[in-house]
Amino acid sequence: MTAPSAPKDIKEPKDPGEHREPAQFIASNKPVDRATADCVWVGIFATGTGAVELSNAAKVLDKVSNGAVARAIKAGDIDGKAGNNLLLRDLTGLPSPRALLVGLGKRDDLNEKVFCDAIRGAMKSIAGSKGIKRIASFLTDVPVKAKSGERSGTWRVTAHVTCVRESGYRFERFKTKKDDNGQDAGSKAKAAKPAAEGITHVEMLLPGDMRPTEAPKVIEDAQALANGLQLTKDLANLPPNICTPTYLANQAKTLAREFRLKIEVLDRAAVEKLGMGALLAVAQGSAQPPQFIVIQHLGATTKDAPHVLVGKGITFDTGGISLKPAADMDEMKYDMSGAATVLGVMRAVAEMGLKRNVIGVIPTCENMPSGTATRPGDIVTSMSGQTVEILNTDAEGRLILCDALTYVEKFKPASVIDIATLTGACVIALGAVNSGLFSPDDQLADALVKAGQDALDPAWRMPLQEEYQELLKSPFADMANVGGRAAGSVTAACFLWRFTKAYRWAHLDIAGTAWKSGAAKGATGRPVSLLVEFLKNGLE
Ligand code: BES
Ligand code: MN
Ligand code: ZN
Repeated sequence: MTAPSAPKDIKEPKDPGEHREPAQFIASNKPVDRATADCVWVGIFATGTGAVELSNAAKVLDKVSNGAVARAIKAGDIDGKAGNNLLLRDLTGLPSPRALLVGLGKRDDLNEKVFCDAIRGAMKSIAGSKGIKRIASFLTDVPVKAKSGERSGTWRVTAHVTCVRESGYRFERFKTKKDDNGQDAGSKAKAAKPAAEGITHVEMLLPGDMRPTEAPKVIEDAQALANGLQLTKDLANLPPNICTPTYLANQAKTLAREFRLKIEVLDRAAVEKLGMGALLAVAQGSAQPPQFIVIQHLGATTKDAPHVLVGKGITFDTGGISLKPAADMDEMKYDMSGAATVLGVMRAVAEMGLKRNVIGVIPTCENMPSGTATRPGDIVTSMSGQTVEILNTDAEGRLILCDALTYVEKFKPASVIDIATLTGACVIALGAVNSGLFSPDDQLADALVKAGQDALDPAWRMPLQEEYQELLKSPFADMANVGGRAAGSVTAACFLWRFTKAYRWAHLDIAGTAWKSGAAKGATGRPVSLLVEFLKNGLE
């Protein structure tokens, strides 16, 4: 079947204004009275008794400025509570014209979230000031509590870089008019000011437990991670008339060219030849042809078994003939967030030069209703040979994934992790806090949970048990593609499980975590951080 190509009524803007060069980061030993920046950031703490305690850098600042910090506190201008910041100007003894006092709350409560919120808050406090291009931050010097123990300097520098980069992210390439707030000039909507608008340099204090020679690589890796996150968010935020399966394939090719990755894109004919009947069934209702992307970062020897990431790439999910309701259907452009995650991770590990073999696999197509679309009741044969009765065409993610999961057997992988906006049921179970993690492999599951905690990108383990397979029984085929309302995210995982017996496997359901709805609608970049952390650590 040769489908007509879809009409192109909008061109991807060639000059995306939000893509300025990212700020440069360095770590240095310079004390606050020697740093030459447009603004220095120093932390202050609240004590239990309503008093304020100064961080080391704040003490130096207070001293050289003849007590300016103490006076601001005494005057009641700032109280040390987390989220309360105060900008001071023209302090004597300070080469930098501005000092931002950053409230960090009580020392004992200063955990990872407080730390990152403080950096985001500092970015907000200086947003809109056109004079601030260079920042010298002393926040890397404060102790950050982890669940057990304390976070290392490496962790704090990494988090500092990624939080600054995150605060500067906007997706505005389709706005033709921009006012000062980066908002459509005609719009009354009051948006956040453009954080990090003109920031070009961020100097962070070298943490006490980090050697100066270590810092550049830590920063480089953090920048690579931030670049991966940015790619994932950009791809996911793109409208579905631009971000088609073919567009994703072209983006993968561009990425491969830039970072010398191995790339192969299978077209419909190649996918037919492999017998991917489940993927083809989903694709057959759309004018857009399916693509099957295989992109490889080979950073280790050929003997090293690769870690394989499989990302769901439904560029728009209408539900097909089992059509979704109209409300919020636009958000189904995010149904390729798994695919976007895979490309973001590939970019990050390639830019880091990670010494591991990592293979990204993306089955991608559009789920549309049409005269050629799959009907409820259709039975298809998957690449594995197992037959599937498609009772609901809206349960399409598992259909494209099952063929990809069979395909990746050929890599003899060390692990396979699939990433998918798979079920609304997972959103009901876990909300936007945790991604759903399913795996029959305790060691792999533990490694992923740990990576999620360390990367501030948490996942929560959900059950995977044979007992649930009952629900997928079909009177006519080897299985049905849906199991009813009960335990919806579990039966979806159980469906995939049937195709993953040849290797160690985990499934991440990111339906609740990949994007935000409402006023702050947008891709989150999750779970890129979790996966990059997992790949850095490796298994066992
Ligand atoms: N892409 C959706 C899952 C989804 C829905 C993610 C809402 C985020 C928000 C998936 O393809 C889907 O439609 N799943 C169905 C499965 C059902 C038919 C068994 C669902 O969750 O309703
Ligand atoms: Mn669906
Ligand atoms: Zn879907």
